[in-house]
Amino acid sequence: MEYHSRASRPAPGARGQDLRILFASDHAGFDLKQLVAAHARENGHEVVDLGTASRDSVDYPDFAHELARRLLAGEGERGVLVCGTGIGMSLAANRHPGVRAALCHDAFTADAARRHNDANVLCMGGRTTGPGVAAQMLDVFLAAPFEGGRHQRRVEKIETGPGVRDPGSEEKQGQEKRR
Ligand code: RB5
Repeated sequence: MEYHSRASRPAPGARGQDLRILFASDHAGFDLKQLVAAHARENGHEVVDLGTASRDSVDYPDFAHELARRLLAGEGERGVLVCGTGIGMSLAANRHPGVRAALCHDAFTADAARRHNDANVLCMGGRTTGPGVAAQMLDVFLAAPFEGGRHQRRVEKIETGPGVRDPGSEEKQGQEKRR
């Protein structure tokens, strides 16, 4: 299938396209985060590890919000979030407008997350995904471009659809009420 050939391309680091990647996990994602971060370093990328730093129990939203905040501040080009399933991390990170956190399970979903969804955060599960697949997902996620075109319009609608909260306008309304 198509994604096998993409997955076997040289990692971006090997082609001089090194990226700064933010990593974070909870306790359930700690081991996999360490492995995938090491893989990223081996391929020449700069790794910023935002924790957690052990298998001691922590709350995944604390780490997802911190990574999202830093990504939006321009402290990294991509993010990787790992919890037990990747679900909680993706839910929390996607509360930040501008973050597109994709829960992926294989090279195909990681490739589509970039090409179709312009995802900037890769989420994975330490209890659902093995280290080999996780490393392959990262390689694909870093190498695949956003295809734009019709996908651009759809990605824009994620944050502008009817009923989607606009934090900017809520802030303005709050300011008006306080006057
Ligand atoms: C922790 O037990 C687990 O709930 C967490 O890692 C994650 O899977 C939540 O979505």
